[in-house]
Amino acid sequence: MTNDASAGRGTILVLNGPNLNLLGTREPAIYGSATLADVEQLAAASAERLGFRADCIQSNHEGDLVDAIHEARGKAAGIVINAGAYTHTSVAIRDAISGVSIPTVEVHISNVHRREEFRGHSYLSAVSEAVIVGAGVKGYELAIEFLADKLARA
Ligand code: DQA
Repeated sequence: MTNDASAGRGTILVLNGPNLNLLGTREPAIYGSATLADVEQLAAASAERLGFRADCIQSNHEGDLVDAIHEARGKAAGIVINAGAYTHTSVAIRDAISGVSIPTVEVHISNVHRREEFRGHSYLSAVSEAVIVGAGVKGYELAIEFLADKLARA
C-alpha cells in the first residue's frame, strides 16, 4: 500500500516478512488483533503526519525482501523492517540492509526476549539504527517517528 498524500520528506519503506500477512488471526494472544492492513494504515498515517510517504510491502519470501531492500536505494529515506522469522536466520537480509546504507529500524510486535530462546538472536540488530520489540503494532509508529527525527537531524 502506498500513500501518496504527502511525500514532501520522502519515502519510508515498511517491510513485513513471513506470516505477517496472517496478523489478526495468527496467535492473537501474542500478536494482538490488528491485521496487516491495520498495520499498513497505521504506518501510512504516521508517515503522512510527519511529512513522509509509507511504501508498505509484505512477502513470505526471503529473496523478495532482499529485492525490496535493494530497490529502496535512491528511493527510500528510511526502512522499517519486521522480518518475522527471517530475523533469526537471514544473513542475506542483514547483508542487504548493510549494503544499501539506508537507516533501518528493526521492529517486532512481540517481546522476542520473553519467548523461545532462538528468538533472542537477531541477525539484523547489528545493522539497524534502533530495535523496537514488544510494543505491539505501535512499534511501527515509534519506528517511523524515530526515523523522521533522525532524518531531520541528518
Ligand atoms: C516477530 C517475532 C518473530 O520471532 C516471529 O518469527 C514473527 C513475528 C514479531 O513481530 O514479534 O514472525 O517478528
